[in-house]
Amino acid sequence: MKIISVKDYSALSRAAANIIAAQVILKPRCVLGLATGSSPVGTYQELVRRCQAGELDFSQVRTVNLDEYVGLDRDHDQSYAYFMRDNLFNHINLDLSNTNVPDGMDPDGDSACARYDQIIRDLGGIDLQLLGLGVNGHIGFNEPADAFSLGTHQVELTDSTRQAQPAASSPAWRRSPPTPAPWASGTSWQARKVLMVANGAAKAQAIRDAFFGPVTPHVPASILQLHGDFTLVADEEALSLI
Ligand code: GLP
Repeated sequence: MKIISVKDYSALSRAAANIIAAQVILKPRCVLGLATGSSPVGTYQELVRRCQAGELDFSQVRTVNLDEYVGLDRDHDQSYAYFMRDNLFNHINLDLSNTNVPDGMDPDGDSACARYDQIIRDLGGIDLQLLGLGVNGHIGFNEPADAFSLGTHQVELTDSTRQAQPAASSPAWRRSPPTPAPWASGTSWQARKVLMVANGAAKAQAIRDAFFGPVTPHVPASILQLHGDFTLVADEEALSLI
């Protein structure tokens, strides 16, 4: 495990973008695993800036997203498919047909999960997975549990995760999924390289528990301690308890 300690969010975003840019330059046809949430937004802005400056070429890149809300279609403004187009896909020279986000409207959740895992296998696996960190130590909605989950599956959100979703306070959320059960890809930690971004004091306890405590499914991100190529980029506040 490598920890890159940076001063603040803008330094974090530049450092994470450097790592992703290096991946894209070294392997133009790479598979990027992408995350949502507020943490990677600055990283995406930095990648957009570099692409628009002609420094980065995403034309051959393929992407797979971590998760999606069941019951939200891809055009819903609280869906992760929408988030990705809004924050990244629409602003870089990525072919939208090379992007994958789980289909939250699929009526058969189990077979949709199996198909999503097959998509990842058909792509040859994920070269670089970008992750955020939940305040309870979850990654990609893999919530604390008695066992680690492998593969894409449906989950019920814990109350703390539910409250942390920006969508939770919007009228759209109240109209839409009353009990949001998102997909959660358990395949993320199997990516060849994993990059986590975490900023702010609210993540400090989760970082300490996940990376300086035992490996346990009660802190899902702790499994990354066992990963051979895991980098955490975090700011001073997020690292304040270690
Ligand atoms: C949600 C997302 C995760 C993300 C987490 C943290 O649970 N599904 O992928 O890592 O939020 O979000 P934030 O970066 O906004 O703190």
